[in-house]
Amino acid sequence: MIRALYMAPIRGVTDYIYRRVYSAYFSGFDIAVAPFIAVPKGNRIKSGIFKDVSPENNIATPVIPQLLGKDADEFALAASRLFDLGYTEINWNLGCPFPMVAKKQRGSGLLPHPEKIDAFLNRVIPKIPNVLSVKTRIGREHRDEILRLAPVFNRYPLSEIIVHPRTGVQMYSGSPDLEMFETVCGSIDHPIVYNGDITNTKSFEILSERFPEISRWMIGRGALTDPFLPGDIRKKPHHEDRGRIRIVRRFHDHLYNAYRDVMSGPAHPMDRMKGLWTYMARSFAEGRKILKKIHRAKTPERYMEIVNRFFDDDARWEPASPDERTNNTFNAGKTHEIV
Ligand SMILES: Cc1cc2nc3c(=O)[nH]c(=O)nc-3n(C[C@H](O)[C@H](O)[C@H](O)COP(=O)(O)O)c2cc1C
Repeated sequence: MIRALYMAPIRGVTDYIYRRVYSAYFSGFDIAVAPFIAVPKGNRIKSGIFKDVSPENNIATPVIPQLLGKDADEFALAASRLFDLGYTEINWNLGCPFPMVAKKQRGSGLLPHPEKIDAFLNRVIPKIPNVLSVKTRIGREHRDEILRLAPVFNRYPLSEIIVHPRTGVQMYSGSPDLEMFETVCGSIDHPIVYNGDITNTKSFEILSERFPEISRWMIGRGALTDPFLPGDIRKKPHHEDRGRIRIVRRFHDHLYNAYRDVMSGPAHPMDRMKGLWTYMARSFAEGRKILKKIHRAKTPERYMEIVNRFFDDDARWEPASPDERTNNTFNAGKTHEIV
């Protein structure tokens, strides 16, 4: 059953420009969780840090802002600023696996410390005007850390828990731990959102059969790779492959121009697009070839020459089978270095 499909936050890709342009070409997502905003230190907040979630930049798709931080008072201040911008719901990032974040006990670095999470929620919940949800992994080092967290989460009025069933140290390797996810479903009283490795309609069907009680689903890399995926899952009217390539091409050109309008210099917009190609190339036959060429392009002119030739002559729509889309291939690209 699908009650809601969420666009996952992918820092460095799913910013407001991507979300806006995406929604002009593709359907299926109900809502997006925005990439994390690191809670600033101290009691001063520059309004610029909320640019990605400013209401005027987010007219097309409803969005839930996400905060990354561990200091309750600083978090509450940022949360109330978001409330002033109109956000009645915000999300707390407890999943970020990157060592630079985790070693400061932020993101997944907090998961081995239920008492700290408890103290944080105890202070934050009464202070903030917004409803709070959490996005988490199943642990930092161990797959069962979340079981010590479940009673803590259950004590507070959280709106939902988004669970990506990997540990932090796993990053994106291996497979989602569905057994542990099942145990988590039995331990957490709040609505649960499943997130992890939904790469095509088949993988969604398998998961939704296995977890009939789950009605909220979040998709990240799978929809960057095949942007039609959420619509296909929702069984929106189907485009044949030629039509799909035309739509992806229009989406690409629109997105690139939108980045060029707001980013300075020629390199930044091109790098953004190269990051997206890391995923998108996998939906085309011989995607690796085009990806290599694209990553070698040094100038915007050369970049567009390669992309235009590809769309004119070579592009064949062929989203990879689930087996081919191992996590390692997802991880092959540059995008991950952005976070
Ligand atoms: C490059 C990259 C950036 C990410 N940035 C965020 C982020 O800002 N906040 C967050 O909660 N998760 C972030 N994630 C994790 C995704 O939201 C998602 O949980 C993860 O990719 C698993 O889902 P998927 O298999 O559908 O992609 C990021 C993942 C990647 C690969």
